[in-house]
Amino acid sequence: MDFKNRIAVVTGGGSGIGKGVSLSLAEKGAMVIIADLSEDNAMEVVDIITDKNQKSEFYKLDVSNSKDVEKFGDYLKEKYDNIDFWVNSAGISKITPFFDHSEELWDKTMDINLKGQFNCCKVAVDRMLENNKGSIINLSSQSGKVGTSNYQAYCASKFGVIGLTQSLAAEFGPQGIRVNSIAPGVIYTPMWDQQKIDYAKKRDLDPDHVMDYFKNKIPLRRLGTVEDVAQLVCFLLSDDSSYITGQTINLNGGDIMF
Ligand SMILES: NC(=O)c1ccc[n+]([C@@H]2O[C@H](COP(=O)([O-])OP(=O)(O)OC[C@H]3O[C@@H](n4cnc5c(N)ncnc54)[C@H](O)[C@@H]3O)[C@@H](O)[C@H]2O)c1
Repeated sequence: MDFKNRIAVVTGGGSGIGKGVSLSLAEKGAMVIIADLSEDNAMEVVDIITDKNQKSEFYKLDVSNSKDVEKFGDYLKEKYDNIDFWVNSAGISKITPFFDHSEELWDKTMDINLKGQFNCCKVAVDRMLENNKGSIINLSSQSGKVGTSNYQAYCASKFGVIGLTQSLAAEFGPQGIRVNSIAPGVIYTPMWDQQKIDYAKKRDLDPDHVMDYFKNKIPLRRLGTVEDVAQLVCFLLSDDSSYITGQTINLNGGDIMF
């Protein structure tokens, strides 16, 4: 896959899945704009990429703030003639019993995970309409396909991402813009540092046994990696998937099959 001269935006590119995707896109020749709230983490990724003479820059962005995202759009318009790829990976996740789900947790989760993708898709589509071409990937989750306990806000936000993806794909397909979503199962990233402890409480497990617990119920008997996600993202961004739009692709070792 050759992404030379392609311009890509990755939100949440400073950590976990977004980091893996950013490294992989840069490796294939793309210029990667990492838009993240956390400057320190994102700058580390930019440094890894530029140290290899590949191309990347950082933009500090809160995806949940529409004004911030609009300004980012103006910045992109000024600096780049076109945006080819956009990956919405910024997100948060909290496992907690339903009656401990505060209004604040609900709003924050929705604001970042769902409204954040809506805000960013507005800019992404606007930039891609310049050339009537582009490919957008929205990170949903296995929890966007099937609800699980103690996870109401997160599940609702990730189900929402699938609706957002399908609606955009239907509206902008005629103008050459493809929009797809990915539904990963457990991918061991920094997101799981705290989440492992919360999940252990939910299942009455030792936190150190949580990952084995997941592994043992996955038909392929391993967890997914950020590289697994990055490979799928690159395929869905590339012209190799030119007839795929509006889809949510499971990436879960067979854990769920619908
Ligand atoms: N790790 C998993 O098991 C898993 C599974 C399914 C889906 N996902 C989804 O994949 C995406 C990435 O998850 P991850 O595991 O890499 O998480 P992570 O915590 O490692 O990384 C998330 C990144 O998003 C950034 N971010 C958070 N809020 C932001 C905001 N308001 N504006 C801009 N950036 C913000 C963080 O700074 C961080 O760099 C998320 O949307 C998550 O819901 C993760």
